[in-house]
Amino acid sequence: MAVCVFSSLLTVLCVGLYGKYTYAACTDPVVTPASLLVEYGGPAEVNCSIPSKPETGYVLGWESKTSQPLTDTETSVMWKVDSLTNWEDADGLLCYFTVGSTQCESNVTVTIYKRPDRVTLSSVSDVWVEGDQTELRCEIENVGPGHKLSVRWSRADPKHNNAFTQFSETSFPDLVNEMKSVSMTVNLTVTPRREDDGVQYQCAAVLNLDQHLVFTSQPLSISVHCESLALLHRTHVTRLALALTTLVVAPLNGLGRLAPTATLQNLVESLPRRVQFITAK
Ligand SMILES: *[C@@H]1O[C@H](CO)[C@@H](O)[C@H](O)[C@H]1NC(C)=O
Ligand SMILES: *[C@@H]1O[C@H](CO)[C@@H](O)[C@H](O)[C@H]1NC(C)=O
Ligand SMILES: *[C@@H]1O[C@H](CO)[C@@H](O)[C@H](O)[C@H]1NC(C)=O
Repeated sequence: MAVCVFSSLLTVLCVGLYGKYTYAACTDPVVTPASLLVEYGGPAEVNCSIPSKPETGYVLGWESKTSQPLTDTETSVMWKVDSLTNWEDADGLLCYFTVGSTQCESNVTVTIYKRPDRVTLSSVSDVWVEGDQTELRCEIENVGPGHKLSVRWSRADPKHNNAFTQFSETSFPDLVNEMKSVSMTVNLTVTPRREDDGVQYQCAAVLNLDQHLVFTSQPLSISVHCESLALLHRTHVTRLALALTTLVVAPLNGLGRLAPTATLQNLVESLPRRVQFITAK
């Protein structure tokens, strides 16, 4: 036990002394910027420098997946990429400064993001009926990194000056380890009320980076039919179909002359109302 404590003490002492020795030999190089946000496919560069040349031989250089520039005569060296298209390039970027057998390092935090190719909002059903559940569908193509993605839903009400306000947000726990770009289709269930008629919806892909980048869809306007009108619509279509069937089928069968005539009359009567309904829609 006592030996253990003593030996640990010795280790701490040694490491401490050694550490001090290393610090005397090199200092951490200065990277500018120390963190950067790069758009996928865009250029990136970081400067790594030391305040002055040491008296002994040295190397100042970069560790990176794409290129490893270095110098043993200058006090600065640039890491430069014309077009960053590899998501892994963000990992393990660091500048080292080696003097003799000691090495000092400075890491650079690179975040690559990709704006979506498309953000499309659509409605699953063509007709929105008061009280009937329906779905909005937001399709987001090729956005990244996946682990920073969320989807914001907003709506604008013409009765409230038409400004869009967020009412829901979808996050993706499954994507926590997704460092690259993804495509997502997100559904949101809505139950329209009568007063939602004329409301506009929007969805947006959000990349929750240090700054939030928001990519918004085109707005989608909806008209809500009240329940009774929808019912009328349904019975009307049914009646029309029935009438047409009777008109076509009855004469062929040579059956009851009265029925088709009556149905035809019904049909004619119903037409203006149906036309009216369509225009009202
Ligand atoms: C890199 O930074 C050093 C120190 O600030 C500066 O002297 C040098 O000009 C910079 N290099 C480039 C290419 O900007
Ligand atoms: C620098 O990056 C290396 C490799 O990615 C890592 O092991 C180390 O902990 C980082 N150091 C700091 C100070 O962030
Ligand atoms: C969203 O709805 C569409 C059409 O109804 C369906 O194909 C898709 O699987 C749904 N997506 C999710 C994530 O539930």
